[in-house]
Amino acid sequence: MKTVSQLLDMKQQKEKISMVTAYDFPSAKQVEQANIDMILVGDSLGMTVLGYESTVQVTLDDMIHHGRAVRRGAPNTFVVVDMPIGAVGIDQAQDLNNALTLYQQTNANAIKAEGAHIADFIVAATRIGIPVVAHLGLTPQSVGVMGYKLQGSTKAAAQQLIKDARNVEQAGAIALVLEAIPSDLAQTISEQLTIPVIGIGAGKATDGQVLVYHDMLNYGVKHQAKFVKQFADFSVGIKGLQQYNEEVKSGVFPSETHTYKKKIMNEVEAHD
Ligand code: KIV
Repeated sequence: MKTVSQLLDMKQQKEKISMVTAYDFPSAKQVEQANIDMILVGDSLGMTVLGYESTVQVTLDDMIHHGRAVRRGAPNTFVVVDMPIGAVGIDQAQDLNNALTLYQQTNANAIKAEGAHIADFIVAATRIGIPVVAHLGLTPQSVGVMGYKLQGSTKAAAQQLIKDARNVEQAGAIALVLEAIPSDLAQTISEQLTIPVIGIGAGKATDGQVLVYHDMLNYGVKHQAKFVKQFADFSVGIKGLQQYNEEVKSGVFPSETHTYKKKIMNEVEAHD
């Protein structure tokens, strides 16, 4: 399993960091088998596995439930678990309690929190020993305020994002996720920070990349963002289900090969 200091070394050696989301035991197992450096148990699970329209309905209990399953599936991979909306930014004592509960109960390696307003929380969480990954740019929990669109695309917004990135690094964040921002801005931030910057829709100059498992494998996704590349097609599963349905109805399945051959009814009275 990668450590925080190995992730820092990777940045310094210009070795790219790979990260992908996982939400359950089998997906975590696959990601670990693929030797990916980091897993994010993203609150995108609200859409990908719980069928919500956004991440807004996801709760701390949801994150704990899925985080624990991922840890069991990927015991040797660096796992980051998302703080859902409202778990941070309301009351400092409550924020820390939420962070501690999530960190302890999932046995994750770090937690992630969205937004520029979390610098004080990062300081406090780091002080009690919880590693925090920050998330800036497009922050899906604020979709009601900012929409799903490119961030940092005006001079003022870009300058603000650079400041925010420096702030979260100074507060003690161990890494930064930057989502949906111009690639030249992401490059500047990656060069200015000493912590690893992981991009999603932020171009190739960041220290690493993260994608959502269900997007990159085409697993029941309605809408693909511009920055998603499809690396495999899990929609073939539907063909298998259709064939199963046809074979059950036509009696083709189960065949002799899928049937136990032992005879017992010669020993049993039919009306026993
Ligand atoms: O929840 C998530 O999957 C994320 C990624 C989009 C970075 O935060």
